Amino acid sequence: MSEFSGKRYVVTGAASGIGHTVADLLCKAGAEVHSLDRNEPTVPVARHIPVDLADVASIGAALDVLGDGYDGLLNIAGVPGTAPSATVFAVNTLATRELAEAFFERLNPGGAVVVVSSTAGFGWPKRLPQIREFLETENFEEGAQWFAAHPQEGNTYNFSKECTTVYVHSMGLAFNEMGFRINAVLPGPVETPILQDFRETMGEDTIDGVASLLGRHATPEDVAGVVLFLASDSARWINGEAINVDGGISGAILSGTVPVPEY
Ligand SMILES: NC(=O)c1ccc[n+]([C@@H]2O[C@H](COP(=O)([O-])OP(=O)(O)OC[C@H]3O[C@@H](n4cnc5c(N)ncnc54)[C@H](O)[C@@H]3O)[C@@H](O)[C@H]2O)c1
Repeated sequence: MSEFSGKRYVVTGAASGIGHTVADLLCKAGAEVHSLDRNEPTVPVARHIPVDLADVASIGAALDVLGDGYDGLLNIAGVPGTAPSATVFAVNTLATRELAEAFFERLNPGGAVVVVSSTAGFGWPKRLPQIREFLETENFEEGAQWFAAHPQEGNTYNFSKECTTVYVHSMGLAFNEMGFRINAVLPGPVETPILQDFRETMGEDTIDGVASLLGRHATPEDVAGVVLFLASDSARWINGEAINVDGGISGAILSGTVPVPEY
């Protein structure tokens, strides 16, 4: 029997890509999966709750019916930089924080939140003061107002993932105090429907240059296994951490082995 058997998880983004694979693996391992997505998943989840993660009222309505008693929140939904900036920031950052904090009351002892951020947020140390200012906002609406009033340079997708990664790093101690954990998985390019959008916003040369260094892009399975690991008891002392799952690109960039990509 797998360690996920009989456990209860909420998976956002379960209708496609990485979230689909995570939901599928959990269902096959005997877990009870509750999906939050704007689209209906094809995986036979226990329950699907339609939600628009760009809309705080829709998130509130979904939380009202969700109830409590979950072993994990796997926050995987996201939108690429081809969507309007406010939507990108709302789904990738504000909804992620809103849901994580709604789970303070909904997690079982030992519960875990896993967030899928991105290696595209690697530039966060340069913008830490602005990101910390954003993190001082109290809720979704205040966060949206802060974002509207503080236009950032470059692609909003990158900024949204920088904020999400720093949020996870910043919350480890608070989660530990409650007997929970929070971690992030940072994928490089993954073969899912949004990869084409990334080619448009980050440039084909950047995205496909990564594949030429590695031989291929990641598959959703390459990433999903790490999401499950972080949700599992084997990861019980990993907290407030962000793990690159990118075939080795981040290490190569950090060590100066390959140049920093321009995106
Ligand atoms: N694919 C990549 O190359 C890549 C790389 C790094 C990080 N990521 C991140 O991985 C996560 C999953 O992406 P994916 O590649 O599986 O993409 P995907 O497009 O296959 O899946 C995204 C899911 O999020 C859902 N979603 C999007 N906006 C929503 C909204 N407003 N309300 C409710 N649901 C919404 C979609 O319906 C879909 O099911 C995202 O957070 C993405 O930023 C992806």
